[in-house]
Amino acid sequence: MNWNYTQPVEIIFGNGSLSKLSGLLNNFTKPIIVSEEYFLKNGLVDKILSVINADVFTEVSPNPYVTEVNKCSRQIRKNGNDVIIAVGGGSVIDLSKSASVTVEDIREYHDTGKAVPDKHIPIIAVPTTSGTGSEVTSASVLTEKAIGKKAPIVSGSFFPKIALVDPELTVSMPPKVTASTGIDVLCHAVEGYWSKGHQPICDVLAVHSAKLVFEYLPKAYDNPNDIEAREKMSEASLIGGLAFSLPKTTASHACSFPITSIYNVPHGEACGLTLDFFARVNAKDNRTVQLAKELGFDTVESFADAIFELKKKVGLRTDLSEFKLTDENINELVKKSHHPNLLNNPVEITDEILYELYNNELS
Ligand SMILES: NC(=O)c1ccc[n+]([C@@H]2O[C@H](COP(=O)([O-])OP(=O)(O)OC[C@H]3O[C@@H](n4cnc5c(N)ncnc54)[C@H](O)[C@@H]3O)[C@@H](O)[C@H]2O)c1
Ligand SMILES: [Zn+2]
Repeated sequence: MNWNYTQPVEIIFGNGSLSKLSGLLNNFTKPIIVSEEYFLKNGLVDKILSVINADVFTEVSPNPYVTEVNKCSRQIRKNGNDVIIAVGGGSVIDLSKSASVTVEDIREYHDTGKAVPDKHIPIIAVPTTSGTGSEVTSASVLTEKAIGKKAPIVSGSFFPKIALVDPELTVSMPPKVTASTGIDVLCHAVEGYWSKGHQPICDVLAVHSAKLVFEYLPKAYDNPNDIEAREKMSEASLIGGLAFSLPKTTASHACSFPITSIYNVPHGEACGLTLDFFARVNAKDNRTVQLAKELGFDTVESFADAIFELKKKVGLRTDLSEFKLTDENINELVKKSHHPNLLNNPVEITDEILYELYNNELS
């Protein structure tokens, strides 16, 4: 088996590590903080501004829009910023990646196959959720609201220069966000492992990350101030990011894109909705059997049951019944689930399997 492993992001990890930010800016003259309204209100942006001079952009929605990227790019070009400090969840970090190449219109590169320019300003990614691992990946997931398209852009230009991971910043996440972002970590680890693009270094990272989620997500959910659980979930998220960044995700992420863009289910929750279903589908794949064993389960069935139980324990949806899906809705979901990530699943996902998922499992 031939494989390559590259990971260009410097990682600085630990409680209180936000205090190291100003020391990382010595070679830059015009930083911009990209964040969101929540962190303006809770004082985090002001706290950073009390130690550094920077411009600020906070028009970032969850599942950020291409229009917001274009607006941020325009502001960066106008200000002449030379570094982005991205303070937020995956949405803020992803928007920052796409804005860092400062093109006129990011839609030219959104799911079009056109390569993103190499030239970009560096990003210091400061995650406030423990979920996407975006601080160490080359993906930027954007939504074009007008046509209901949600899809990633992947580019070597998008790797942050530094991931500054301070688990204390995740303590303010409400339980719902903790649960949704936390199950995303499990999806990254599991999908990275069983993907067709798997490779040995990422396998080890995936197992480490998935074990941490099973142990610490319920603790972080039950007690938001449990700093050990927060720290372990930040570790799981970052290492989960490393585990899928090269292998890429599979069927659960492919299905999550329409579930989120049509029904507004948060990203992680949307991915988690189908993870146990696809574990059962993938039970005929040897590596899925191997993963279940490495995580301490005798069979893929018991692994899938544990995923289902974890979702219930942390208050996540286990189906889409509240939306009373019609045949027409299901046809649309099946059609829009055919994202390229589906082809990275170890077992071929046919329309029949997708109909089984949406008609029976989730309805
Ligand atoms: N780039 C990647 O590799 C990658 C991987 C997976 C998902 N994604 C994308 O990332 C986005 C999701 O990111 P996310 O799951 O981190 O959530 P998010 O960034 O969308 O944030 C979710 C919600 O939590 C709030 N929030 C964030 N941090 C908080 C904190 N510390 N305290 C209180 N509230 C907080 C936000 O205001 C928001 O309302 C989606 O668009 C998804 O598709 C990207
Ligand atoms: Zn994800």
